Order: sequence, then C-alpha cells, then structure tokens
Amino acid sequence: MINNSINKILPFVKNSSSVGSQIVRFQSAAAAVPPKQTKTSFGGLKDEDRIFTNLYGRHDWKLKGALSRGDWYKTKEILLKGSEWIINEVKISGLRGRGGAGFPSGLKWSFMNKPSDGRPKYLVINADEGEPGTCKDREIMRHDPHKLVEGCLVAGRAMGARAAYIYIRGEFYNESSNMQAAINEAYKAGLIGKNACGSGYDFDIFMHRGAGAYICGEETALIESLEGKQGKPRLKPPFPADIGLFGCPTTVTNVETVAVAPSICRRGGSWFASFGRERNSGTKLFNISGHVNNPCTVEEEMSVPLKELIERHAGGVIGGWDNLLAIIPGGSSVPLIPRKICEEVLMDFDSLVQAQSGLGTAAVIVMNKQTDVVKAIARLSLFYKHESCGQCTPCREGTVWLTKMMDRFVEGRARNDEIDMIWELSKQIEGHTICALGDAAAWPVQGLIRHFRPELERRIKEFNDNNKGIELDKLAKYANQN
Ligand SMILES: Cc1cc2nc3c(=O)[nH]c(=O)nc-3n(C[C@H](O)[C@H](O)[C@H](O)COP(=O)(O)O)c2cc1C
Ligand code: SF4
Repeated sequence: MINNSINKILPFVKNSSSVGSQIVRFQSAAAAVPPKQTKTSFGGLKDEDRIFTNLYGRHDWKLKGALSRGDWYKTKEILLKGSEWIINEVKISGLRGRGGAGFPSGLKWSFMNKPSDGRPKYLVINADEGEPGTCKDREIMRHDPHKLVEGCLVAGRAMGARAAYIYIRGEFYNESSNMQAAINEAYKAGLIGKNACGSGYDFDIFMHRGAGAYICGEETALIESLEGKQGKPRLKPPFPADIGLFGCPTTVTNVETVAVAPSICRRGGSWFASFGRERNSGTKLFNISGHVNNPCTVEEEMSVPLKELIERHAGGVIGGWDNLLAIIPGGSSVPLIPRKICEEVLMDFDSLVQAQSGLGTAAVIVMNKQTDVVKAIARLSLFYKHESCGQCTPCREGTVWLTKMMDRFVEGRARNDEIDMIWELSKQIEGHTICALGDAAAWPVQGLIRHFRPELERRIKEFNDNNKGIELDKLAKYANQN
C-alpha cells in the first residue's frame, strides 16, 4: 500500500516510502529558494511584525476594522501581478504548510498551474481543526475573518482557481457565522465575486460546515465529505491537484497557511523569510495548553526555543520548570518529548524532527509531574481508535489492539515483553495505511516507550508484586478478549 503519510507530518516519513522521499527531495529543492539567514537567536516577535493583529478579538473583526489593520490594502495590485509573481513570493518566503505536514506552500500551489484542460480549478480551505490541542484556525476565523477571505482570493489567484470552499468543522458555529458575515461584506464591497477588487478576475467563496469527524480533516476525506459522501480518505495517486473536488484540480490547504499569504505579498517574501531558521521560516501561531499558568494562543517567530515560548507567553509550567514531565509539541499526533529535550529544542520543523517528534500543528501540550503519562497516552489511543474510518486493516484493527494494551499498561497488568510487542504493533501500523491517521495513532505510543519505558516496567512490577499468585498470562488473555 502506498504510504501517503506526507499529508500529515511529512518529515517523519522521510525513509518510509519512495513517495515520501520524492517529496522530501522536492522539499529540499524548494527550501533553497529563501535567502540565506545569519540569525542565531529566535523569539520575542515585535508587535509591528505580527500578522494576526486581532488574535484576541479586542478590535472590530468586520470589514471596517480589517481595513484599519491593513487588510485588503493594494489587493488589486497583487492580483494584477499574476499567478507566477504570487507563487514566487510565497516560494521566497519559505512558507511551509501550517496544517501539519509542513510541505512547501509555493511549490504545492504551483502544481495547479498546468496547462488548462477546460476543467475549473478549486481552492479548498481546511478549517476542520480537529487535532487535539490545536486551536489556532478558529481564532483567525472568529477574530480576523477578512485575513482568510483575502487570503483565499490571493491564493486562489495564484492557482487560477475559480472558487474557494471553506470546509469548517460543524462545532465552530461562531466562527462560521463570522466567516459568512465577512464573505458577505467582501461581496458587497466588490472585493470578491465578479471582477474581484476590479482586477478582472472572478472569484467566489463558499462556506461548508462539516459534521464533526476528525478524519474529515484529512484532505481527501474532506473532499469526499464536501461532495456529500462519507468522509473516507482516497487512495493516492491521483493527487487532488490532478483529480480533486468534483473531479477537478484542487488544492486543499490550511486556514493559517492561506491567511498569511496577503501579508507575504504586501511585505515581501524576504520579510517573512527573515524570521526563524532556514527551511523553517516565518511567524507562526502556537497554542499552549495543559499544565501551564496561562494557556494561550500566540504568534511568535518560528524556531523560538520551546522553553522560552512557555515561560514568556504561558506563564511557565505549573509548579515550575523542574516540575515538567513531558511535552507533546505539535498536537496529539506527534511523539512526546521529555523535559531534558524540551530544554534545548527549537519550535520548528527540523529541530523537532531531530528530537524524534514533530512541529505538526504547533499545539504544545504541557504535562507536569502530576500527570499520569501512561493514562494520557492511553486516552489518545482511544481517540484514534474512535476516529479511524476503518478502511485499512492495520489502522482499523491496530488501533483497537493499541487501546486494549494501553489500558492494561495503565494498571501495569501486562508482561515486560509486551512493551516490545506494542512497539512492533505500532510499527506494523505506521506507514501501512491509506492516510496518516494510522501513523498518528502509532507515534504517541512510540514516544511513550522511547522515553518512559522504565515507568511502564515499574507499573508492571508493581502490579506483579501486588498480585502474586495470579497468572498474568491468563489475565492478559482475559483482558484482550474483553
Ligand atoms: C487524520 C488527519 C487529520 C487532519 N486534520 C487536519 C485539520 O484539521 N486541518 C488541517 O489543516 N490539516 C489537517 N490534516 C492535514 C491535511 O491532510 C492537509 O495536509 C493539510 O490541510 C494541507 O494544508 P497545508 O499545506 O496548508 O499544511 C489532517 C491530516 C490527517 C491525516
Ligand atoms: S482506516 Fe485509518 S489510516 Fe486507513 S484511511 Fe481510514 S483513518 Fe486513514
């Protein structure tokens, strides 16, 4: 089966399939475009460099407020510069997708610019935001919806798209109504629709509310759902840029990715590329939740040290830094990292891959020493089991097994050699499924074993000591049957 894990957290699949490594080659080629940087310290983003200036909803989110913050400024000129110019600026900016996979956006958008065969092209905005811990796109949509409306127009122009569909998760009621209000305002002001901004380019935007399934965030499942079918991922190829929504060339891209495009075009790709390390450039929305004194969403420079991010913006770990146990740095799908690594790691794609984790959606979930880390990961296993669409055997069956075993590990009701068994099981899921949900189920368990094996063994020993005389084999067999 073809491994399409590239759609979620690309750097992880570097070695796991030929498709993955081809894309990684693309990635390095594209990453050469941004200018060389000499910076060595990152973080402390200045207010004048923020893109999302109404992140906390303190100002008017409607058109008047958006205009006062600089949105829709010279949009017509940007559109008139044309597709090639916009894509080139995005390439120079080094922007990588903010939906989890981190694929270079300029390159991805350029896949749409093949000679026309008469079919319309579509831009689809992924506003499903189902990754546990992630809450950035909703802030854009309810507090700064014009950033996304303008972003759709600019990105749509870059791809030659006829229309954009914003697929928003059903639970985001306020966000979808603010988005719709902003779209209505933009139509009324002539910013979108026929002859958008007076540029001669026609462009429509439609909202579509989902019904609340995590898998509908996967781009091809999302397309299926938009078409009115069950949200089940498609086998790739063909990729959406060839056959996507309604059989037409389509690009599915994250809210944040698209919302930064107008600022990149106005301020220049080099400006965006001046933040963060090479290949990891830009500003980024980080969500910090869990055991911190001040959970928040904040725009920061890419490559900011994780420790600084937490101490500067989230008021530090509850009980102090020394009370930190582990952090899941990029949404529930990525492996956790223990305190020692958290001390050094930078919040960017490459640094986190080096630490055997990932930037994912940049949702930082902090766990202090009061956390039952085995129980926390067991809860994630249950989540993935529940959300599996059931098409692939390794994911459908494997997530059930993971859950059953993890539940026993919480109590220590297991044998030591079962730690290796669950590791092997996770490896049988990883890279053997249609979509990356299988990988996402496997990685949290792998992270737990990598860094907390002694804790698993301690629980097993404790359970053993407290249940002397009970045949553990029988218990395990019983548990697996129930
Ligand atoms: C199970 C699963 C759920 C996903 N959920 C989301 C999501 O909620 N939002 C999102 O933008 N991308 C999500 N993705 C990633 C998308 O498939 C796709 O890679 C992304 O929207 C591309 O946007 P980007 O290029 O701007 O990063 C998910 C992927 C998988 C496998
Ligand atoms: S079974 Fe799992 S991996 Fe396979 S397509 Fe469904 S969610 Fe994705």
